[in-house]
Amino acid sequence: MTDGIPMSAPDISEEDVRAVAEVVRSGQLALGPKTEAFERAIAEYVGVEHAVAVNSGTAALHLIVGALGIGPGDEVLVPSFTFAASVNVVLYERATPVFVEIESDTYNLDPEDLARKATPRTKAILAVDVFGHPADWDAILNVAEEHGLRVIDDSCEALGAEYRGRKLGQFGDAATFAFYPNKQMTTGEGGMIVTDDDGLAGQCRSLRNQGRGEMGSWLEHERLGYNYRMTEMSAALGLSQMGRIEELLAKRGSRGGDVHRAAVGPGRGGAAGGAGACAGELSSTW
Ligand SMILES: Cc1ncc(COP(=O)(O)O)c(C=O)c1O
Repeated sequence: MTDGIPMSAPDISEEDVRAVAEVVRSGQLALGPKTEAFERAIAEYVGVEHAVAVNSGTAALHLIVGALGIGPGDEVLVPSFTFAASVNVVLYERATPVFVEIESDTYNLDPEDLARKATPRTKAILAVDVFGHPADWDAILNVAEEHGLRVIDDSCEALGAEYRGRKLGQFGDAATFAFYPNKQMTTGEGGMIVTDDDGLAGQCRSLRNQGRGEMGSWLEHERLGYNYRMTEMSAALGLSQMGRIEELLAKRGSRGGDVHRAAVGPGRGGAAGGAGACAGELSSTW
């Protein structure tokens, strides 16, 4: 028996603890400055206009599916290998997930099968960057353009990874990150929507907050919404962790690289593993 390698333990510093304690003492525990600052930090890091913080990666995906108007009768192309939430969010809206084959070297969507599975009922592609390894974005976006499809990037496992020199989060209509304790960085529970689309961002902000209008009063509800809000404690932890994101990625890369390589092999573009570990035009994060 070996002790095993801890693949994905959270890395919590004294500064992280202080940041959360400060919020608890402040009394402003929800909808406050830490959430806004954390959103700005992620938007700047990823290189997008908007970031909308929510209380899980699943909530982030669900809001995008809803905001894109995906519903009954619509088909959504999803990978046949992913975390259950990537598919559950399609079912929440009574749409139909259509499973697409995956590549044997990366475990990500196979673009050739993606093109084969598109039908007149297909409304969107929900691609996943499995184990922090970028999906084949050029090929996916080509299929989307050819068939007039919306594109969601489930990048919940891939904060910091890059495709052809651009951070994941910049591809498709909107993308998501997740901050469960096994992720690149954590907020305990939490997720983030990132997008350059002003309208989509506004809708997601409203949907996460019971459907309230952004400018309206507390009792003005413009649509059917949810309570998917992130707490200020989570946001403070996230902001503190983002302050040392490169250090966190490097630490996890050296620990997770071997495990990743053993699981999925080198993948397209070189060795997968820690931040920047892929040669060529891709970099994975673990
Ligand atoms: C690919 C993928 N999508 C979605 C999620 C859902 O995130 P959460 O657990 O924060 O709801 C996860 C979480 O592990 C994930 O790995």
